[in-house]
Amino acid sequence: MSRPLVLRGGEVLDAVGRRRADVVVADGVVRAVGPDAARDAPSRALVLDAGGCVVAPGLVDLHAHLREPGGEEAETVETGARSAALGGYTAVVAMPNTEPPVDCAAVATEVLALGARAPVEVAVAGAITVGREGERLAPMGELAALGVRIFTDDGAGVQDGALMRRALDYARGLGVTLAQHCEDAALAAGGAMHEGAWSSRLGLPGAPAAAEETMVGRDIALARLTGARLHLLHLSTAGSVELVRRAKAEGLCVTSEVTPHHLVLTDAACAGYDPMFKVSPPLRSREDVERLRDGLCDGVVDAIATDHAPHAPEAKDLPFDEAPPGMLGLETALSVALSFLGLELALACMSWRPAQIAGLAPRQGGPVVEGAAANLCVIDPAATWTVDPARLSSRSRNTPFSGWTFTGRNRHTIAAGEAVVVDAEAQR
Ligand code: DOR
Repeated sequence: MSRPLVLRGGEVLDAVGRRRADVVVADGVVRAVGPDAARDAPSRALVLDAGGCVVAPGLVDLHAHLREPGGEEAETVETGARSAALGGYTAVVAMPNTEPPVDCAAVATEVLALGARAPVEVAVAGAITVGREGERLAPMGELAALGVRIFTDDGAGVQDGALMRRALDYARGLGVTLAQHCEDAALAAGGAMHEGAWSSRLGLPGAPAAAEETMVGRDIALARLTGARLHLLHLSTAGSVELVRRAKAEGLCVTSEVTPHHLVLTDAACAGYDPMFKVSPPLRSREDVERLRDGLCDGVVDAIATDHAPHAPEAKDLPFDEAPPGMLGLETALSVALSFLGLELALACMSWRPAQIAGLAPRQGGPVVEGAAANLCVIDPAATWTVDPARLSSRSRNTPFSGWTFTGRNRHTIAAGEAVVVDAEAQR
C-alpha cells in the first residue's frame, strides 16, 4: 500500500458543497476530513500543500482515445493515463476505435489489463458493432460481463436505424449505456470542416449541422421507443442542444457531453488551413458555441468530455482536407473549462456527473468524506500557465491551444490513494 498522505490547508468542494478542510488519505481511502484533520495524521504521511487550492473528487473523462492496441505511435494507455492524471483526472473511459477495435472479450481484456497498471482508473468502452462497421452487433453481453458499461462506435455513428434500435434493446436488458457519435455519414461525406460562410470562403468541403442533428433526433426517438439509456457524444450544434432539451423535458434517459474545444473555438480557427483545428464533429459557428455554453449552464448538457484524440505529428501534418480529425484534450480541459465556467459547475460537468454516466460513482466523483475512495484532484484556481506542446506529457503534440495562457490548473492528483501528480509533475 502507498504511503499515507495529507492534503493540508485547502477547501473541499464536492457535490455536497464547499468547506475548509484538510484531507487525510491512507490505504486508498479518505480517513479524515476536517478543519484540523492534518493534526491527527500518521507522522510518516506525505504532506501536500493545498493552501489557496480546492480539493475535489478527481475528474472523470467520458471520452478519451488512448490508441492502444494499434496506435502506440500516437499514445498508449500508460501515456494517455499519465496525461489524464496531469489534467486532474482520476478516471477515463477509453474509446474502442483501436486497431483491432474493442469489439470482443479478448481485446477488452487486453485494454483492461493495460489499464490496471496505469496511474488512473481506465474504464473501457466496447464497440456497438463488429469492427465498428455498422453491420452486425458486437457481443455486448460478453463485454458487459467483463465490466464494460458504455458501448459506442465512436469515430462513426451507427447509420442503420434498425440496428441501433436492436442495440438499444440489448443495452436496456444489460443495464448499459449506448453512446452515439451523431453523424449521418452520407450528409457529412467529404466534409473537412463546418459547412458555412468560412467553408465557402476557404474553399473547403463542409459538413452541415444537419448531419449531426438528424442522428440526434433519430436516436432520441429510438431512446423513447426502447426505454434504453442513450448518451450523445461531443454535441456541437445549437440544434442538437434544443433536441436534447426537449428529450430531457419529456423525461427520456438521455445524457450528453460537449468538448472543451467546441466551447471555445469556432470554424474561424480553420482560416489558416492548419490541420490542428480539424476535428470531428467540426468546429462550428459562434452562435453554436454560445448555445452549447447555455446548455451547460442550464443542465441540458451534462458533461464536458475531452475527446482526447492524439495523432502522431507525421500523421496529422497533412493538407487540411487530408489530415485525420482530432485534438489533444486531457492536459488542457480543466483550464479551458475554467476560462469561462465557475469551479462548481466545471466540477459538476467534469467529475460527479460523468462519473454517474460512466457507472463509476461513487468511487469516482463521490463526496469527499471519511471512508470514500481516495480519487481526488487539487486545483489551484490562481495558477497561470502557458501551453507549450513540447512540454505536454502525451506522446502526440496536436493541441489547438499552443501558446494560450490560462489561469486555473490542476496541481496534485491522488488516484486510488496514491499521489500520482504532485505540483503539476507526474510521479510515475
Ligand atoms: O476528431 C475526432 N477524432 N473525432 C472522433 O470522433 C474520433 C477521433 C479520433 O479517433 O481521432
